[in-house]
Amino acid sequence: MYDQQQIHQEVKQWFRQVRPQILEGREKGLDIENKTSRLDLVTNIDKETEKFYRQKISESFPGSSILGEEGLKDDINNAPGLFWVIDPIDGTMNFVKQGASFASMIAVYYQQKPLLGYIYDVVHDHLYWGGHGLGVYCDDKQLPAPENIPLKDGLLGVNGPMLMSNYRNLQEVVKQSAGARIYGSAGIEYIHVLKGQCVGYLSHLSPWDYAAGSILAESLNLRVKTIDGKALDVVSSDDVLVATDKAYNQISSLMAAK
Ligand code: IPD
Ligand code: CA
Ligand code: CA
Repeated sequence: MYDQQQIHQEVKQWFRQVRPQILEGREKGLDIENKTSRLDLVTNIDKETEKFYRQKISESFPGSSILGEEGLKDDINNAPGLFWVIDPIDGTMNFVKQGASFASMIAVYYQQKPLLGYIYDVVHDHLYWGGHGLGVYCDDKQLPAPENIPLKDGLLGVNGPMLMSNYRNLQEVVKQSAGARIYGSAGIEYIHVLKGQCVGYLSHLSPWDYAAGSILAESLNLRVKTIDGKALDVVSSDDVLVATDKAYNQISSLMAAK
């Protein structure tokens, strides 16, 4: 059995080690490719950062299984020991266009159970980390659990295209909130919810987008599930909603059967 603290002591160093590679790599000029469309980008830095984490995992935790956005994709259901989910650069469009509002994320599971989550705000050099039984920290400072506020009292992070197309009544959900925010990085959106700056966040996400943030959110007693109340399986892409309990119930009722 792996000890959470023992893993954390090793993993926390990786983010600061890779930071110069990310920031200086962008300064030197990026090699950018389209993946599924002109809005879905990958850069040499996404690939190099994932490679860096994979090397660290195999050196320090041999025998691990890994699901990485830019590499091989192991299945959590066939992972006998440690299982890692990597999103090397989350918000690649922001990384390319702005050099801001992007994150680097890792989630760790042991025997299919969530162990640790990491969202690294690279530009501000803040590491949000934690896990079941540990709580959530920003660097060394523990975050209080967000107050259970209702939808009307909070800002809601949303996915732009889903809002524009009024996906499942989303425009009504936003009207009932204090306003919509669109940041373009799931990791940054999760940070806002963890800190109580947004009442929730709703988007269609892949496992590498939601794994780390969901481990952290659950550690703060936030609700994180599909819009229809299903548990996230770390295998499928899904409509993910993370929110305070009150907001979660209101949003999922407004979106039910739409
Ligand atoms: C994307 C961002 C974006 C979300 C997309 C993700 P990527 O991640 O998190 O906010 O709306 O669904 O794919 O591709 O930049 O790692
Ligand atoms: Ca990514
Ligand atoms: Ca992502």
